[in-house]
Amino acid sequence: MKNLLSMEHLSTDEIYDLVTTASQYKSGERALPQFNDTYVTNLFFENSTRTKCSFEVAELKLGLKQVSFETSTSSVKKGESLYDTCKTLESIGVNLLVIRHSQNAYYEELENINIPIANAGDGSGQHPTQSLLDIMTIYEEYGSFDGLNVLICGDIKNSRVARSNYHSLRALGANVMFSSPEEWVDETLEAPYVNIDDVIDQVDIVMLLRVQHERHGIAGEANFAAEEYHQQYGLTQSRYDKLKDEAIVMHPAPVNRGVEIKSDLVEAPKSRIFKQMENGMYLRMAVISALLK
Ligand code: CP
Repeated sequence: MKNLLSMEHLSTDEIYDLVTTASQYKSGERALPQFNDTYVTNLFFENSTRTKCSFEVAELKLGLKQVSFETSTSSVKKGESLYDTCKTLESIGVNLLVIRHSQNAYYEELENINIPIANAGDGSGQHPTQSLLDIMTIYEEYGSFDGLNVLICGDIKNSRVARSNYHSLRALGANVMFSSPEEWVDETLEAPYVNIDDVIDQVDIVMLLRVQHERHGIAGEANFAAEEYHQQYGLTQSRYDKLKDEAIVMHPAPVNRGVEIKSDLVEAPKSRIFKQMENGMYLRMAVISALLK
């Protein structure tokens, strides 16, 4: 694998390979490779807790050396382009770049970068490592994707998580449905839109999305009061109680507690939210190993 940019670029075999490797790292069945004299830079132009920190832990466990980069103290502040920043890091001997950027498909400008790139999220485009860790979490639970009913709820239009999972879960055989306010419908994605209350007792997975406040600067975007949103589109106690016994609750986090999900339910028995984060570190080790092979 040369780069990891979008779930649309991965075959189902590649998805299964990455998830299997991550699971084997997690169980101890596969020894962790050690990459000596290998340098990585994590370039986060948007904020992050989970993706940045879990990439960092994954890199340290694989023996990589981290070359620090902060946008606030770098020459980005003097107007340096993303391409020039990346080309500079390549020129001075960095072997791998992990990049999060607010620009959709920022990586299209980086075709002439000759070291691997792991996309840690591009605007409202793609978030491939989030999708892969979600797939790993679902696979741990169900062992297959065929016919699973997945309900993705919330800010579909602005969510790179929704977009990545839409492509990958359908490719793996799951049925993907969306539920969202009309203003956040994404007409480019073909999954059916449903009322959460019509299907909550039938789904195998309910995946809640963070309301993407930072992407709502455009006139006409939905602007709901937190409680109103929670009652209409969120996981309330009453909806949770209607879930099938074996159903699971997912959220990429950070969670707006009391908005997408009732605060008490974040760690409820059916919630896999912290399991997703745990799996993310193993999954990112698998991605780094595949990129540096
Ligand atoms: N899920 C996710 O991408 O979280 P962060 O923005 O904290 O990395």
